Amino acid sequence: MTLVSEPAALLRCAGIVKNFAAVQALRGVDFQIGRGRIHGLVGENGAGKSTLAKVIAGVHPPDSGTMLLEGAAVRFANASQALARRIVTVHQDVNLVQTMTVAENLLLNNEPTTGFGVLRKRAMRDTAMALLRQYEIDVRPGDVVASLPNDLKKMVQIIKAVHLAPKILLLDEPTSSLTDSEVRVALRVIRQLAAEGVGIVLISHYLNEIFEVCDDITVMRDGGVVAHRAVADTSMAEVVTAMVGRHVEIKRRGRTAPAGAPLLQVERLNVPGHLHDVSFTLHEGEVLGATGLAGSGLADLSRAVFGAAGAGVTGRVALSGQTVSPGDPARSLAAGIALLTNDRLREGILPDFTLVENICLPVLSRFAGAGGMLDRDGMVKTAERNMARLHVHAPGPFARARQLSGGNQQKVLFAKWLETHPKVFVMDEPTIGIDVGSKEEIRGIVDEIAAAGVGVLLVTTELEELVLLSDRVLIMFRGAIIGELAGDAVGREAILHASASGKVAP
Ligand SMILES: Nc1ncnc2c1ncn2[C@@H]1O[C@H](COP(=O)(O)OP(=O)(O)OP(=O)(O)O)[C@@H](O)[C@H]1O
Ligand SMILES: [Mg+2]
Repeated sequence: MTLVSEPAALLRCAGIVKNFAAVQALRGVDFQIGRGRIHGLVGENGAGKSTLAKVIAGVHPPDSGTMLLEGAAVRFANASQALARRIVTVHQDVNLVQTMTVAENLLLNNEPTTGFGVLRKRAMRDTAMALLRQYEIDVRPGDVVASLPNDLKKMVQIIKAVHLAPKILLLDEPTSSLTDSEVRVALRVIRQLAAEGVGIVLISHYLNEIFEVCDDITVMRDGGVVAHRAVADTSMAEVVTAMVGRHVEIKRRGRTAPAGAPLLQVERLNVPGHLHDVSFTLHEGEVLGATGLAGSGLADLSRAVFGAAGAGVTGRVALSGQTVSPGDPARSLAAGIALLTNDRLREGILPDFTLVENICLPVLSRFAGAGGMLDRDGMVKTAERNMARLHVHAPGPFARARQLSGGNQQKVLFAKWLETHPKVFVMDEPTIGIDVGSKEEIRGIVDEIAAAGVGVLLVTTELEELVLLSDRVLIMFRGAIIGELAGDAVGREAILHASASGKVAP
């Protein structure tokens, strides 16, 4: 095949192949990035989206295939070479230097220097400050990145990329940890850059965002491209079917009323500066949603309930009448409370451990036989059962967690806590980075465990998830619960209105 570069194509990839040992991550992918166009890249977890972005960005040299940048063949040996050609990436996982400040991170590789290469600290701070203001990001240049919540880290990562003046910008799930208003800012920036001629690739599981901003859309499946369309010529239903190879029906969970007996009682929980007198009761078999905007205290709720919010916490958390918290995650876990955190990389997955180890870790004692020998077969079977139930896309139970795609790592975490057979399952943004088909499966599992009597506390900013799953929804505002919606009153508009106004409509 001869490659003819179309005039508008900034980058043309043809026949890209990339294998990781026995895993064929890309099996001959053709892909184009047009000048001033926004190209949506979608597909199930493990389809190969991040790998394609990494090949384009020089992180992974391809095994074979060609890339033409503005008509000329290129072959990047590493990410710096791609960066030198102004191919800039916002990777799926935050890759800022955690111990450095926001200003240092923003200007890393792009620092203002004097003629002699000396860093100009003052100029750095000023530039950083101007950038943060321009994009309405509420952090200080001197803040250490590690101290920021996920959404703000992501915003810093995005503006850092924009500040590098990309010709091609690859965004790998940039919005998955962002709040609604941050998503608006991010999408506005993307549109603006495209208008300036930048070629953009947007990888996202939020198809509404894809349909809102993209010109073109490519669907990947099992390492290959299965569909390529102009957004104007396709529909969400067609894209979903192409992604998962079947029609996905989105079902709303049948709401259970009346609720079972009180299970988890939270009384006047206070986290200084974050939560104020939070009280609620979760019943057996109930899915209790909790939501709120940035600054509402939602981000602190799950950890506080689990007893992991640190010092200064007051109040009481009781499970079936027995006090378990605050202040002791180990006790919460032993009592039957599981917490799926929203920070997969820092508090969740063990990247260098196998899937067997990741899934069985909290329940190791169950596999301890006589003489302290571990029942390895039992562990492997447990991992395999969970991997099948959640359709984890991995070479096998002995794969290391770091070899899995982002969404598949998230499924492993979900499996790990599910396997503890909790009485109360606290889930903080449980389906972050998970594809449409798998989201529906996870909702099915939540429905199943609730039907079996488990109490689920679903902490999320995803309205659809709340509406589809929750029996009741608690609304948080400025650190307090200001009311709740129940039964048929649980709806997108009602939730949005209450979260924004701080009042639940009567
Ligand atoms: N460093 C690696 N080592 C081994 N296998 C890998 C590595 N990176 C990716 N893979 C494998 O390549 C395949 C594609 O993964 P990729 O991360 O590209 O998926 P993705 O489409 O981005 O999925 P997600 O939506 O979950 O982020 C998966 O089977 C994954 O396990
Ligand atoms: Mg990915």
